[in-house]
Amino acid sequence: MHTAPIYLDNHATTRVDPRVLEAMLPYFTEIYGNAASTSHSFGWEAKEAVDAARQSIAAAIGADAREIVFTSGATESNNLAIRGVAERQGRRGNHLITVQTEHRAVLDPIERLGRRGCEVTVLPVEQAGSDRAGLLDVERLRAALRDDTLLVSVMLANNEIGVIQPISEIAAICRERGVIAHCDATQAVGKLPVDVRELGIDLLSFSAHKIYGPKGVGALWVRRGTPRVRLEPQIAGGGHEGGLRSGTLDVPGIVGFARALELCLEEMPREQPRLAALRNRLFAGLTAELDGVSLNGPALDSESQPLPPNPQPLLRRPLFRLPANLNVSFAYVDGEALLMNMGRIAVSSGSACTSANPEPSHVLRALGLSDEATRSSLRFGLGRFNTAEEIETALAAVAEVVRKLRKLSSLA
Ligand SMILES: Cc1ncc(COP(=O)(O)O)c(C=O)c1O
Repeated sequence: MHTAPIYLDNHATTRVDPRVLEAMLPYFTEIYGNAASTSHSFGWEAKEAVDAARQSIAAAIGADAREIVFTSGATESNNLAIRGVAERQGRRGNHLITVQTEHRAVLDPIERLGRRGCEVTVLPVEQAGSDRAGLLDVERLRAALRDDTLLVSVMLANNEIGVIQPISEIAAICRERGVIAHCDATQAVGKLPVDVRELGIDLLSFSAHKIYGPKGVGALWVRRGTPRVRLEPQIAGGGHEGGLRSGTLDVPGIVGFARALELCLEEMPREQPRLAALRNRLFAGLTAELDGVSLNGPALDSESQPLPPNPQPLLRRPLFRLPANLNVSFAYVDGEALLMNMGRIAVSSGSACTSANPEPSHVLRALGLSDEATRSSLRFGLGRFNTAEEIETALAAVAEVVRKLRKLSSLA
């Protein structure tokens, strides 16, 4: 019997892979120079490591090394992209478009720009009850574009419901109208093949700690070439990263980021189908054990469904949903009570709540779910270190807690 805690919250963050840690270690105590020090070998060696990592990360997304700007994570990358473009708007206009289900690291900077004079359109998504729940209908985007639209920001894969948006189509529409396309690919890079040229976008955000790398390091890919993407730096100082992001580079973090991404790419063809099978088993088991279990977001298995145009060549077939993501609502139980009783199973609520301020998930609400269904949801994020045995244990534990809570509430 399994007694150790079981981590099923891999959309929040991931364990650092020991191979990543091993690659990072020498850069704390042996090769510890500042990559911007040009007058001695300590600095040169650090710079060499950063150059190699930059090259490797760029290659992993089909980019040129000169297009990578290292940041502290995807929140900063999103801010640099969105605020950076808006503050360099020139004469084009100040209309920004995004989607209701974006991460707060996109919605908040855009809302803030809205309070400072930008015009903002936030598009809805396909409603619950459809196999395409959570998808953006590209015709809605086309209709929302205006002559003064400056930027469109749409994520590649959603962190709560795993829905994969048709980014290459979105980008093509933006290109026709001369609008800059930004994509938050934090949950997609390392899990799906991502090629920035195929996607046809201008800016892409991603982060190391979602892919078994360290926390506190990320990147913004900024397309070079014409038409030029101009960004206003958000952190000013010594002029690092081509002047776009000043601050001493986190050399061990950057080395770890590159190693983490290399490992993800190597293992992706085996790992993603493995996770999809475990995820499908978890859902099948929950629905077999319990009544009143409903899937939130798009279909798990898209093979028999009419597929949206493929955002990019995905593993073996086009997908609607991240292979490792599951989000379900359990009728007649409260999500908070569910979480409190989950014991050693680490999952998160579909409602992103802090104890002081329980707020139902804006993503589930955007699907049209009732507050009740939103509050009774759990998000499972499977990852590299999960085994089939853990999934069986978690499944039994969740079913038991739901049954117990339902019994208690029927007695009340
Ligand atoms: C889709 C998405 N965007 C942005 C972020 C923020 O990333 P970071 O923690 O690297 O700032 C996250 C992580 O929570 C995310 O899932």
